Amino acid sequence: MLERYGHGGDLRTAEEAFGRSADQFIDFSSNMNPLGPPSGVKQALYAYADIINQYPDPAVRGLRRELAQRHVINEQAIVVGNGAAELIDLIVRALQPKLTTLVIPCFDEYADAVRKIGGALREIQLSSDKQFKLALEDERLFEEAGEESLIILGSPNNPTGQLVDPEFIKQLLTKGAYVVVDEAFMDFVPEESQFSLVQEAALHERLFVIRSMTKFYSIPGIRLGYIVGMPRSLNPLKRLQVPWSVNSLAQLIGETVLGDSEFANRTLGWLQSERPWLTAELQKMGFEVIPSAANYLLLRIPRELGLSASMLQLEMGKLGVLIRDASRFPGLDHTYIRVAIKLREQNGQLLHALDQCMKAKSGHDK
Ligand SMILES: Cc1ncc(COP(=O)(O)O)c(C=O)c1O
Repeated sequence: MLERYGHGGDLRTAEEAFGRSADQFIDFSSNMNPLGPPSGVKQALYAYADIINQYPDPAVRGLRRELAQRHVINEQAIVVGNGAAELIDLIVRALQPKLTTLVIPCFDEYADAVRKIGGALREIQLSSDKQFKLALEDERLFEEAGEESLIILGSPNNPTGQLVDPEFIKQLLTKGAYVVVDEAFMDFVPEESQFSLVQEAALHERLFVIRSMTKFYSIPGIRLGYIVGMPRSLNPLKRLQVPWSVNSLAQLIGETVLGDSEFANRTLGWLQSERPWLTAELQKMGFEVIPSAANYLLLRIPRELGLSASMLQLEMGKLGVLIRDASRFPGLDHTYIRVAIKLREQNGQLLHALDQCMKAKSGHDK
């Protein structure tokens, strides 16, 4: 079970499980941009050697300034964190909601953060028949959306890849609830300006948007994310955050990568061609593919194959290919896996390994 610590991308657990060294796996279980990290990261690493003897800027001013320019918002409307994961935890601790509503399947950390504060959870199951799309007419979210409640939504959502209609969120806010939108994968969406709520969050007392920099720039080891909200609404978070939570290397790298528009354009170009190609190839093999706006795909294993997600993960792992057992997301059963989208050659290796597992299973059944 590769998700022993709750997430994909755990190469140490894979080493233990499959007896290969970390560099002998192709990892489709975490969703990093295969074009990254951007070239400037190496220079930032060298520059870091000269400032390692200084404390990081506790207010992360340089990076906040760059982020504010990128999103055209006030710098005071941004708090930078040690990855989006820290900010999910912080916002829940700061708001102390009596009731938190989640729409499942979704990222595990939302529920974990709520459990840590002893808050009550309400889960709304999205339908696989509607490809896990949150419909504007779905009334369930509007129930219990009063002032003491919190609603957390992912857009694009992990693991489904579905975007949330910003209109939906604006309507929710009229009910008085706090709304946190996790836009960890929004940089991968070319129509970001149409779907992101960053600018609204900077002006609305009850809306917060969380962004991650680790996926798009492929720097998960660095830990970098930010939250956008009205400056006044962010004060409780700042009070709770550990001082110097964002180290100086992360700050430096963040400033460096943000300016690399060539990298960003190349990434969007790659995804625009690779996602439909991989989707079509997987469909030819019999997988149901949930349409995704992000750099990963949620797949349903063909039923007739008789392989569960955990069995397929095990067989693929033996071949050196790591995939995510998506049945570990609340709201999904054992027929779902999630795979990252990578470069063409690696995607070919994924397809080849899946094909081998499928042939071995049907050969075994005969
Ligand atoms: C939806 C979502 N939000 C947040 C995070 C955390 O990202 P970070 O690496 O910035 O902590 C992840 C990581 O997988 C994620 O999938």
